[in-house]
Amino acid sequence: MCGIFGYITNKEEALGPILIAAAERLTYRGYDSVGAAALNNGTIDLRKDVGKVEQVAEKYSFTELRGQRGITQLRWATFGEPSQINAQPHLDSDGDMVGAHNGNVVNNIELREQFIAEGMTVRSQNDGETCVHAVERYINRGYEFIDAIRLAYGDLEGDYAFVIGRANDDKLYAFKKGSGMVVGLGEGFTCVSSDLPSILPLTREVIRPQDGEIVTLWADRVEVRSVKDGKLIDRKQETVTESMDAVQKGGYAHFMLKEIHEQSQVARELSHVLNGNREVDVLVGKMKNARHLYFIGCGTSYHAASVGAVYFAQLAGRAAIPVLAPQGIAQYAPAVSHADVGIFVSQSGETKDVLNALEAAEAHGMECFGLANVVGSTLTKSASLCLPLCCGYEISVPATKTFTNQVVTFLYLAFKMEGKDPSSPLDGHSLRSGQSIFEVIPELMEKTIEMVEPQIKAIAKDINEWNDLYCLGYGATYPIALEGALKLKEITYAHCEGMLSTEFKHGPLSAVSKGFPIIFVAGPNDVPLIISGINEVKVRGARTIVIAEEDPRLHANADDVIVLPKSDPQISALLGVLPLQLLSYHMSVMRGFDPDFPRNLSKTLTVD
Ligand code: M6R
Repeated sequence: MCGIFGYITNKEEALGPILIAAAERLTYRGYDSVGAAALNNGTIDLRKDVGKVEQVAEKYSFTELRGQRGITQLRWATFGEPSQINAQPHLDSDGDMVGAHNGNVVNNIELREQFIAEGMTVRSQNDGETCVHAVERYINRGYEFIDAIRLAYGDLEGDYAFVIGRANDDKLYAFKKGSGMVVGLGEGFTCVSSDLPSILPLTREVIRPQDGEIVTLWADRVEVRSVKDGKLIDRKQETVTESMDAVQKGGYAHFMLKEIHEQSQVARELSHVLNGNREVDVLVGKMKNARHLYFIGCGTSYHAASVGAVYFAQLAGRAAIPVLAPQGIAQYAPAVSHADVGIFVSQSGETKDVLNALEAAEAHGMECFGLANVVGSTLTKSASLCLPLCCGYEISVPATKTFTNQVVTFLYLAFKMEGKDPSSPLDGHSLRSGQSIFEVIPELMEKTIEMVEPQIKAIAKDINEWNDLYCLGYGATYPIALEGALKLKEITYAHCEGMLSTEFKHGPLSAVSKGFPIIFVAGPNDVPLIISGINEVKVRGARTIVIAEEDPRLHANADDVIVLPKSDPQISALLGVLPLQLLSYHMSVMRGFDPDFPRNLSKTLTVD
């Protein structure tokens, strides 16, 4: 997830060390490139490249940057590969302005084409540059700077925060639409950043602008205006009292909990990016013409691939084969050819098992595509085309938000395979009219977390003594049960087996004893089947916990019903993973473990 930082001081000073330190404080958000610019006596000194802060800062001597105004940015690639030209900040056509953003401008491609047609110099593919030209466009048409920003804001679709400065000026400007932004007020300086951690060591006096607000920064004061009418807004200054660690975790006790709560926001951002992404149509075209489809991954990413395969069958009538990457080498690679398409799914894009499978599939001629969170990773470079998952940095070892965005991507692709426009409103749909399904999903995710968390904590306490449990599902909820079981194993160290609910009677039933916890994840159409399963184990003493939409029949049969908001079978499965993530988290914490860093595991597995 990118990060921006702008700084303005009342005396000309060595800006470089201030910008480097701020960039270092933003690194926890994840990044692949770094840049810094100083605005000094009518000139702009811009230095940037791909790499770590310390390497790029040293190579380009950031410490030499001087002046009264500076901007630094850490980039997490979404539009345009990680490269020096795509790194931020960016200049306008004549080098009179410099700006940087975090977030995504989803009409980036269309706007770039317009700017080129209008004669502007567009140097990169990056949407941060698009923000700069969006302002430049209205300056060229004779508007005052604030009005140019207001008009640019109207043109730039998506979620982002942006900071910009002009060479011949004494101010910086920032505006916000959807992404985080905080302003700091110190002795003889002001600053603006994507988040609090980069500001706190400088000052604890802050202002939090809201979406649709423009901030003008001088060294000794700031002004907040509404983008709508340009009028001044009275945003109150506040003093931050929390510790740095608490601030980095966004007030949550662990990164995992923060990332669980971030899921709705990243799903929202992902669907914006997918709506504006022409590569989606290229990929769908390839999949429509393919003989066989393979969805390949490991661990959590394999579970997302498995949910995707169910979606493709249920919505688009297309069979897809979910494959555990190493088994793909032994079982499927010998059988594939150029007529087949594989989608390789990975948070890190560096999992060796996945890369080995890609190499084996490619050697047999298969067309290989990817879904990855870390843009610039090996998978994004090796696959013919790779869609970004847009989750930002996932710090916690257990994958949460990357799983849900993998599933959302597969749902989006399944809609496309079905010939539907995923961005169009759901007219006449039982779920909601007037909004697209991908606008409704983030709202349902938020609602689910709100509805289930207190009950989950109580259940976690009740079943915490057990070191053996099962998680069962059917259809689209089968891989969700596998994922829930993996989360439980990974961070509670209990043995939890995920299984197709109907398989339980074929053996594991003999393990059931009094109080034995069995969790069912039930789709809205599978209630009768799940009720059979519940009773089979209940009569043998099991404690039955069901995650499902409201249904009186479930209350009559199960010990606990964790109710999900009403949706449809595909979305209900996606929502079903949220209580399982929370259950794992709370059990892990109750056991005294650190869910962010479970023993024996690492976030990225680059070994065979
Ligand atoms: O980076 P990847 O998605 O390729 O990683 C695959 C697995 O190692 C990963 O999903 C692992 O299972 C998670 N830590 C589970 O939470």
